[in-house]
Amino acid sequence: MMISKSVEWRALKSPDYRVASNGVPRKIEHLLKSAKDKNLDGATLAYTEMTLACVRCHKFVREVRMTRLD
Ligand code: HEC
Repeated sequence: MMISKSVEWRALKSPDYRVASNGVPRKIEHLLKSAKDKNLDGATLAYTEMTLACVRCHKFVREVRMTRLD
């Protein structure tokens, strides 16, 4: 949660990156709430969604960097 709110987290200045980035804290909050409520299904879903967000953003960053001129 702390990492996703740091300045370094904003690696790219694009609307697509912002969308990918903004979803993460919400998924982590969902995971924390589900854990506190002892909601195992909710925690499993939130954890899976968070992991998908990691992979999705890394794929996006890789594509942008490979096609960028600098
Ligand atoms: C919004 C985009 C985004 C999301 C979501 C994201 N990352 Fe990243 N991640 C990055 C960027 C950008 C880098 C830095 C890549 C670089 O500079 O080479 C990075 C780097 C990393 C690295 C270091 C890789 C290395 O070779 O040093 C790890 C580990 C990592 N992320 C794990 C995660 C995990 C785990 C999640 C999910 C909980 C996650 N990331 C979600 C954008 C994201």
